[in-house]
Amino acid sequence: MTIKMTKDQAKDRIVYLSKELEEHNYRYYVLSEPSISDFDFDKLLEDLKELEKEYPEFLNPNSPSQRVGGQIIKEFKTIRHKYPMLSLANTYTAEELHDFDERISKSLSEQFEYVCELKFDGVAIGLTYKAGLLVQAVTRGDGEQGDDVTNNVKTIRSIPLRLRGRNYPDEFEIRGEIILPLKVFESLNKEREEAREPPLANPRNAASGTLKMQDSSIVASRNLDCYLYVMLGEQLPFTSHYENLIEARKWGFKISDFMVRCADINAVLNYIHHWKTERHKLDFDIDGVVVKINSFPQQRKLGFTAKSPRWAIAYKYQAEQVSTLLEKITYQVGRTGSITPVANLKPVQLAGTVVKRASLHNADIIEKLDVREGDTVYVEKGGEIIPKITGVDLTKRPAKTQKTKYITHCPECNALLVREDNEANHYCPNESGCPPQIKGRMEHFVSRKAMNIDSLGGETIAQLFEKGLLKNFADIYDLKKEDLLPLERMAERSANNLIKGIEDSKKIPFDRLLYGLGIRHVGETTAKKLAYYFKNTEALKKAGMEQLMEVGDIGEAIAKSIIHYFKERKNLEIIDRQIK
Ligand code: IVH
Repeated sequence: MTIKMTKDQAKDRIVYLSKELEEHNYRYYVLSEPSISDFDFDKLLEDLKELEKEYPEFLNPNSPSQRVGGQIIKEFKTIRHKYPMLSLANTYTAEELHDFDERISKSLSEQFEYVCELKFDGVAIGLTYKAGLLVQAVTRGDGEQGDDVTNNVKTIRSIPLRLRGRNYPDEFEIRGEIILPLKVFESLNKEREEAREPPLANPRNAASGTLKMQDSSIVASRNLDCYLYVMLGEQLPFTSHYENLIEARKWGFKISDFMVRCADINAVLNYIHHWKTERHKLDFDIDGVVVKINSFPQQRKLGFTAKSPRWAIAYKYQAEQVSTLLEKITYQVGRTGSITPVANLKPVQLAGTVVKRASLHNADIIEKLDVREGDTVYVEKGGEIIPKITGVDLTKRPAKTQKTKYITHCPECNALLVREDNEANHYCPNESGCPPQIKGRMEHFVSRKAMNIDSLGGETIAQLFEKGLLKNFADIYDLKKEDLLPLERMAERSANNLIKGIEDSKKIPFDRLLYGLGIRHVGETTAKKLAYYFKNTEALKKAGMEQLMEVGDIGEAIAKSIIHYFKERKNLEIIDRQIK
């Protein structure tokens, strides 16, 4: 039997748990040195949440429990910046950097030191701390005033809500960049593609969109990260930029390990040269290098122009580009029936990898570029992982090329393709008869984030489909061991595992089933919201437009798609069979 705590004990325990959790957070997200298992972390967090529920008087706005979000903000407050948020002058050449160096030498006529940093390609943020607590987070906005996004920023686990150590100033602002790691960006776009939503253009846009979301619990799920690179305040510990940031690292901030001091412009140029290729190994995007004068008195002496400081400059990398032959345009059919035109290229070396294929996105892009088979095309690798074609070298166009005619019929099942208003992509409408769509839907249904039948891989699905044993995902629930044993590479044990996996999947929570159905526009997050609101398929089936749109972040397009899905008799039959 547990003995009930006194109020004082509860308070102490809340303080203890908060400290523990923040320490583990710091180790995991700032130092990348995990010190506890996810399971144990979640347990501590649950304990804290329960105590805070029981003793709401001890719930602190900077408690680690606030990192999961949940508050819905309809409109962000506008906040005037205490110090304006300026931008930087850009350069693209070594020559311009030498000019910059000369200007500085002339103005200062004394020894000086540079600091080189990566130029993070994300969203600028200003964080204000008072008495060691994060009190406000404001976006850049127009430089004079920005949006108060404190609630969303609190969900970013590498940003300390409470500072470590003691010797931080009572009040200061620290600025940096919120970024979306490339891995998260890729999985986000995969999910969007599955929900037939247009992909996000690049990690920066994705970070910026995420930060402006109304529901902070979605922000929490996006794994944003934040590097800090500017400190402002009246009582900073040092009179130089670099030393302050190194100190701030001790207070729990994530300061890049790649910030270095440089004695002269040649050292700066070496740094720039180094990162020109090394940047491709980072797990986030940078678009250049920022060069700053280290000493604050020297910064003050140099001052500002109307828009930017004279003591700093941004060197921007040009996107890496090569040209190569476009041998053939082929078309891929995705799980949702969406058609992607693919440029098959003569293999070429670009930014450290060999590129053979590039996406041509959709018919509009092909039309706009007027790209044709036999053309020599420019291929570029920007922030995105998949290279893109940015133009055609018309001087190299052979005499007799044909304007590209976009396909009219599905390359897999020959159905007439459709293209809806407001959509960039063509689709194959033959949902129930087009093999890659049927197989793709089943692969999605059994995937880890959906029904998690991981022993049913793509190859097995393909074999069962060829044999006519799987026509849709409800058929999975009629599979018997005897159906499986004759398959290639299917031993008795694997067959048993598979049957068990199928049985286990019947206990999967409703939101994952909903996600697994592959309803257009219903990704993982939307599925969670719908499941929370409707609890089961019966209630969801009956919902009309109005009721659906009452659920947060569900707009007309999503609501329509859900209603359309449940109107289809075939879909209802499949679900009924699955649920049994
Ligand atoms: S310092 C007054 N350092 O680049 C100068 N900015 O083009 C304050 N940025 O608005 C900026 N990495 O959003 C600085 N290491 C870095 C940076 C950086 C990215 C962004 C920042 C700024 C923009 C200027």
